[in-house]
Order: sequence, then structure tokens, then C-alpha cells
Amino acid sequence: MSMPAKPDKYAPVITIDGPSGAGKGTICQNLANKLGFGLLDSGALYRLTALAVVQQGIDIKDQVAVATIARALDIQFEAGEQGVKAILAGHDVSRDIRLEETGMNASVVAAYGAVREALLERQRAFQQLPGLVADGRDMGTTVFPSAPLKVFLTASAEERAKRRYLQLIERGESANLRAQLKDILARDEADSSRASSPLKAAEDAIVIDSTAMPIQAVLDKIMVLAKERINA
Ligand code: C5P
Repeated sequence: MSMPAKPDKYAPVITIDGPSGAGKGTICQNLANKLGFGLLDSGALYRLTALAVVQQGIDIKDQVAVATIARALDIQFEAGEQGVKAILAGHDVSRDIRLEETGMNASVVAAYGAVREALLERQRAFQQLPGLVADGRDMGTTVFPSAPLKVFLTASAEERAKRRYLQLIERGESANLRAQLKDILARDEADSSRASSPLKAAEDAIVIDSTAMPIQAVLDKIMVLAKERINA
């Protein structure tokens, strides 16, 4: 994903919001591939901000300094062999942004209104033809309020913790199911209770509960909706 300067208001946007671990990443990547659309991983922008804050030794509680970092972020996204590479100030930080610690720090900086404001235009610039799949927490409510298709993808906290746990084990990393559940619940609480753009379904979003649904079934359902709503 590159970063063009001006959004194209004619490009259709599909927003996929929902809590951590609901499967948004996989679904969005698949959807974007199938439709030939661009992909906005908005969580990566918050993760990159959090990483830049830590790397520059800024106090994460200093909202003004953190917002300054967000405004000046020097980032690029490049297509790599293992998916999209995130480049921060010229360095590949794709692995660092996926660390649990970076996720927790991302949740902290994402609660700052000035940080959200700083990242708003960058996110909107991803609206380009032939279309965009936007993955996040507030894509349908704040960033792309007029998107023709909005999905709120959720699953029980236990199921989401289990999926994360299995993912880590598969990657050969150490994992603890109870710790995953605790982390998911903490992230849910932080994301839903913040004043600025809290995690919630847009009024016109279609809610899909994937607790007992395989990924393919979720994908099929969204593809049907995409055909109906945007003739994709
Ligand atoms: O989706 P991901 O886990 O990568 O997002 C990391 C954190 O960034 C989330 O826990 C959330 O606090 C924040 N976020 C957000 N708004 C978005 C995307 C992510 O607040 N649109």
C-alpha cells in the first residue's frame, strides 16, 4: 500500500471494524485480493506511532509529544514476499509492530484524540480506485462514514483468545491461553471505553459474529454483500 495524497471520492470503500482477534486481518487481505482493491491496515498506523514513540524515548503519557510524533511519521508500506512490509524511517519494522507490547502501546496512543486527528487524513488518502478495504476500529464510524458497505466483525473473547493462542503456537512462539484472554479483554476495554472514536459498530453496519464460523464462510458472506452494494 502506497500513500497517495488525495482521496478519490468515487472509489468504493468496504469498512471492516471489530475487536482484536476477530479475524479482520485475514478477512481484509483476502477480500482485497479477490476484489483487486487496496488495503488499509489502520492498526498498523497506531502500531507504528507507538513504536516511533518508544524508539525516540518519548514518554508515552505525554499526549502532546506523542501527537507530534504521529503527525511527523515517516512511514512507507511495501509489498513483500510475506505480505506488506512496514517501513519506519527507512527501517523494516514489520516484526516489531506485531509484538504484543507494541499492540498494547498502540492501544494507549490510540486513545489520544490528537493522535487520531493526526492520522485521519493519511487514512482517507487510501481511498483510491478501483476501491479500498479498510480494516480497523472506527473505519465505518469516523474515517469513512459514507462507505457503501460496513461490516462489524466480532467473535466471543474466548474464541478470539484461542485463535491468537493457536496462531502464536503455529509460529513457534511461546503462548499462554489465559494470558491471551486477559490481553484481549484489556484491549477490548481500552478500545471501547475511550472518548475519541471508541470501538463500536456503525449504525448502518452489518454485524457478523464469527465465533462459530470458518473464515471461508465469513468471506463468502461479505463477497455476497459486496456484489449487492457496490457491484464488486
Ligand atoms: O488492529 P490492531 O490490533 O493492529 O490495532 C492495534 C491497536 O490500535 C488497537 O488495539 C486499537 O487500540 C488501535 N486502533 C484504533 N483504531 C483503528 C485501528 C487500531 O484505535 N482504526
